[in-house]
Formats: sequence, structure tokens, C-alpha cells
Amino acid sequence: MLGALTQLIDESLEGFSPTSIILGTLALPIANALYQREWREDLRWVQDKAFKIAPKIPFIGSKFQHEIDKKFEPAMDEMDQDIHKKRTLVYKSLPREGIDKKVLLEQIKKDCDFSEIGDKMSGAIYRSLIDRDLDSLNAEIFGLAAYTNPLHAGAWPNLAQREAEVLAWCSALFQGDDTMCGSITNGGTFSIMEACRTYKEWAKKEKGITRPNMVVPATVHAAFDKAAQDYGIKLIKVPVDPKTQIADVKAMSRKINKNTIAIVGSAPSYPTGTIDPIKALSELALKHHIGCHVDACLGGLLLPFAKDAGKKLPAFDFSLKGVSSMSLDPHKYGQTAKGSSVVLMRKKFGIHQPYIFLDSPIGMYITPNQAGSRCGANILMTWATLAHIGRDNYVDITKRIFNLREKIADEIKQIADLKILGTPLLSVIAFDAKDLNIYLISEKMKAKGWHLNNIQNPAGTHLCLTAKHLEDPQFSATFIQDLKECVQYVKDHPHEKPKGEGAVYATLGSIPAVISPQLKEKLGQEYYYLSTRIQPTRAKKRETAQEQSPQEVKNPRPRRPRFTNTNQ
Ligand SMILES: Cc1ncc(COP(=O)(O)O)c(C=O)c1O
Repeated sequence: MLGALTQLIDESLEGFSPTSIILGTLALPIANALYQREWREDLRWVQDKAFKIAPKIPFIGSKFQHEIDKKFEPAMDEMDQDIHKKRTLVYKSLPREGIDKKVLLEQIKKDCDFSEIGDKMSGAIYRSLIDRDLDSLNAEIFGLAAYTNPLHAGAWPNLAQREAEVLAWCSALFQGDDTMCGSITNGGTFSIMEACRTYKEWAKKEKGITRPNMVVPATVHAAFDKAAQDYGIKLIKVPVDPKTQIADVKAMSRKINKNTIAIVGSAPSYPTGTIDPIKALSELALKHHIGCHVDACLGGLLLPFAKDAGKKLPAFDFSLKGVSSMSLDPHKYGQTAKGSSVVLMRKKFGIHQPYIFLDSPIGMYITPNQAGSRCGANILMTWATLAHIGRDNYVDITKRIFNLREKIADEIKQIADLKILGTPLLSVIAFDAKDLNIYLISEKMKAKGWHLNNIQNPAGTHLCLTAKHLEDPQFSATFIQDLKECVQYVKDHPHEKPKGEGAVYATLGSIPAVISPQLKEKLGQEYYYLSTRIQPTRAKKRETAQEQSPQEVKNPRPRRPRFTNTNQ
């Protein structure tokens, strides 16, 4: 019976190539998946599945692997070079004798020099490049507070007071009530992860949910993926509206189930700088008795000043009763030193944030978040910078950033070959090209010294305006002129392809056109492996890159004086 069936199938497939049979077989589950699930979301799912299955298919699998290997080697060589070419001095091992601080500071000065890039960098530096006032403020605070630690409240009781003041200021800026609690963390990612962890704890204790999920717009920051991965939360990503680039609340609503612990909106999202419909998300959260986190990491110190800066924005804060937590970063538009973010939560959820161990080996051990020891200087620099700049200046900076954004966005709209993505409301202007390769345009901008942030899904690039862009009156004219020239160049060279297509968040480079998630993952792993090497490791490139390679410091002088025991 089985033999006859096999024969029948074999005969009916005679004349078809193995490839078409395999592809035909794959088409069935793909079509089924497209039919059963929401197609926009599933396209990616199908692609991922196909890439997972493909290497295992006889005949196709080896070809597929060959393609991966072919792309991997040159990509790695290039990355290795790229990573190391700008690095300068290398101490290959811990210096035997202490190095004089003058020598170290000279090197550190070079490490921190930003003058070559300056205001041609999108985002990254949020304060003035000219006004050094904050530098000296921070330097003095750091000198006083570098060795303080809020973990030891007995020694420095006022650090908790300063942290509480920052939380209270931020809560008031976002219309929080007097139940708001939270903590200062070292960055937006940490704050977001803290909020997710807290929702998980709350849901476990209050609702008995052991297989939690969160429903989020696909544009949320990768910090949510990190939280999901680390805390065992399933992240259900819902595609945003392709035209407006904002969360599709109806689609999100359809994904909520009994295990959903929270939903998320960004104000604004990093890729396109658009603000999700927070009011609708807040209502959705109330309806389902779940949390609603607003990621205002990027916009945190712009949003509350928008009204006074003359711009009406859709509601985004705790005045919406369903908004139960927010993350906002003083180290972005607050202009504080790096390592400063705030997570705020309504008490109902926030009381689940602290770690409380009553009988740990060292006695009762309680910390407000995951951190143990923290540097008190971060709290104090945040407190002092916010207080030093003050509300009026924040309003003024916000107003000027909005004006600049409007001016540049209007100019980009005039460039027929470009299109703005979504509606920029704060400081980010994202754009794509209509019939040209946007990554090639971005690459050409890089050749002119610009460091734009490439984005994907949708493809595009963005300029994130900060206070540093307000200083040169010619800034917008130079940007637009260079952009027009790059667009023209790409039009004139229709066959030229960009070297890199995949957007690598927060790096200056981009990874070469990738064909599969496997390759992306492999490249990502190797990228960070290579960046922990002190010199290029890939032999083939080492000779050619010699001149640019970091030079080992053989004999660093002068040395610091030896420690002496004055009691002897
Ligand atoms: C919207 C958004 N959320 C979260 C983050 C993460 O912040 P951080 O880099 O401080 O961890 C960013 C960073 O740009 C962001 O734009």
C-alpha cells in the first residue's frame, strides 16, 4: 500500500526539479501561516522559519551555508579593521609600575576627543559642544562623590534624599500623583528592564501569572527584547501602522490574552521619532487591568516642556490613568552625564521593584532595583545638572530643537526623491528615498562626515537633533546641501550598491547586506568578540592594517611615585 502510494507520488512529480519540489512543499505551510495569522507580522515569521529550515534541506542546505560563509569572511575582515583602526595606544597588560596621572590624562583626553565628528553626529551627545559649564560642574561633583555609595545609607543618608528629589521632579513633570515611586538607573535600557521585571513580579504575585507576555508595537526599543529574554517574558510584537509609524492599538488589543502583564507605547520611538497613541493604550490597559509602560527614554526631557515651548502634543503622561510606568533619561535631553535614567511607577506596581532579602548571609539586604553598589556621583550629577539647567532653559532648548526640526523636515519634504517617515513631533526626523537606496545615501553622507542612524523595517535613516546642533547657524543649510548632493550622487550612479545595508544600532558602521538571521547573529557575536580584542586578530588584514593598528606602549613614562608606608 505504502509502496504504491510512493510510486504514485514519484510518477506525478516526474519532470519537476528537486528545488521546485522543495520550494513547492515550503509554499504550503507558508500560505497556511499567511492565512491564519496577520500577514504583516507573519512575513517576518515566515522568513525566519524559512531561514531556519533551509540549511537542513538536502542540496539547498549546503548552497545556503556556502552563501553564508562567502559573506561572513569579508564582513568580518572589514569589521575587524573598522573596530581597530581608530584605536590608538595599547597597554597589553596591567602596567607593572603605576603610570603618572599626567600621561594617563593626556591619553584620556584623546580617547574622549569628539572634535572630528562634532555636530555632524545624530543623537549621542545631547548637550552643547561649546558651553563647558556642565563639564566643570560634573568634574567637581565627581571629585567629591566618586567613592560614595547609596547602598550604605548610614554613611551617606542624603543620597537617598537627592534620588527622591529627582524622582519627585520627574514625577511632577509627568503629572504623576503622590504614589509614584521608582529609582535612578544607569540608562534607559536598565529602566525599561526594571519596569518589565516589576510587571512580571506583580503579575506573578497578584495574578498568579507564570507564563507572562507583553504586547508591544514592533518599533519598541531593543531593551524590551532584552527584558523578555532575561526574565522569561514572551514579547508579542505588533506591526505599527505603515503610514503613520505609530502603534496599531486595535491590532495590539487582539493580541492581549490572560497572560498579558503589560502593554507598551513609545514617546517617541527611536526609529522614526513618532509618538504612539498613549491615550488609547492607557484605556486598553485599564480595560484589561494590566500595566502600561510609556518609554519616554528619548523624549523624557523634551515632552514635558513642549507645551511651554508652544507645541501641543497628544497626551503621553500619568494624567492618563492607565499609564502605570514611564522610563525617561536625564542623560539624553536632560544633558546630565551618561549613566542616568529614571524609572517611575505607580505604587500598585512599583512596590514590586525592590529586592528584599530578609535573611541573606549579610543580614537584611534591600536594594531599590537590580543594582547593588551604585556610584553616588551619578545621582548627584543628575540632581545638580537638572537643577543647574532649570525649567526655563529646558523650555528654551526644547523650543529651539522643535524649530530646527521643523525647518529641516520642511526642507527634506522639498527633496522630491525623499520621503519623511511618520510625523516627526519631537527631535527625530526619519526619512527614506522613494526610488533610491537610502543606505547608499546615508553612506555618502558618512563620507561627508555625517553620522546618521540607519533604521530598518521600514528602511530609512534618521537625524536626531540635540542641543549641540543649535550652535552653528549654518547647521541646517549645510545638512540639506550635503543631503541634496548625496541624493544627486546616488541618482547619477544607479548601479552602485552600499557596502553595508543592515542598520547596526549605536555603532558608527553598518553590517554588509545580510541574507539570514543566522548570519546576522554570527556577525553580531563576532563583532563584540573582536571589539574586546586589543588589536586586529584576523591575520589576513593584519599586515595591511598595520599602520592604522593600535601601537603597543612598551615603556610608559613617567611613572607614578611608589606607594610608601609612612608608618614604617
Ligand atoms: C526610545 C528609546 N528607548 C530606550 C533607549 C535606551 O536608552 P539607553 O541607551 O540609555 O539604554 C533609547 C536610546 O536611544 C531610546 O531611544
